[in-house]
Amino acid sequence: MLNIVIFGAPGSGKGTQSELIIKKYGLCHISTGEILREEIKDQTNLGLISKEYISQGHLVPDQLVMEKFTEILDKTSGVKGYIFDGFPRTIFQAQALDALLLERKTPVVATFSLSVEEKELIRRLLKRGTEAGRNDDNPETIKKRLEIYKERTEPIKEYYRKKGKLFKIEGNGSVEDVFEGITDAIDRLVY
Ligand code: AP5
Repeated sequence: MLNIVIFGAPGSGKGTQSELIIKKYGLCHISTGEILREEIKDQTNLGLISKEYISQGHLVPDQLVMEKFTEILDKTSGVKGYIFDGFPRTIFQAQALDALLLERKTPVVATFSLSVEEKELIRRLLKRGTEAGRNDDNPETIKKRLEIYKERTEPIKEYYRKKGKLFKIEGNGSVEDVFEGITDAIDRLVY
């Protein structure tokens, strides 16, 4: 199975590239950000709790995310592989993911780390904030999201690098150029 983690800072293009990857390779897309936004829309307990964390740019607690993630993973079967988008986001989540996938004998094959300059990240998020109105895309929350990313999420790169599974992708270019970088890397892995 082709299990891929798409990794990067807020605004690095994880969601955009995931959509293109699933179309080309027929993988199952699991985005914890999307899942949590659905929970907020449906006003579930998880949604009500998550809303507070997300609106302040903080991470939703690991235990809550893992419970929901495991439930979603258990509902999917017979897929060619997964693209994990915005997950894992802490070392705890990375270790928990490895344990879940070990049970299924289908490890993470690669982690593609999208590398984008901070001023470009901020430009993209502010633009989406005005156009699409995602309520965590405002200057204050963006600043916090970037801080939390550096503090809690970036160390995961080292976790995967040590396992020989980290692939750096140049993420500053156009959507098409970034996708070409990813497909080249996938094709080298698979063929
Ligand atoms: P999540 O939804 O994962 O948001 P994020 O990581 O902040 O990432 P974004 O969706 O903002 O950016 P992206 O990298 O996906 O880029 P995108 O393709 O959208 O998480 C939201 C919140 O939920 C978190 O802050 C946290 O609170 C919580 N959460 C989620 N997962 C969690 C977890 N596992 N544990 C705990 N809490 C969790 O692109 C961004 C914009 O840029 C778009 O407008 C796009 O059109 C544009 N764009 C993309 N690529 C390019 C390009 N190459 N050139 C120009 N523009 C581009």
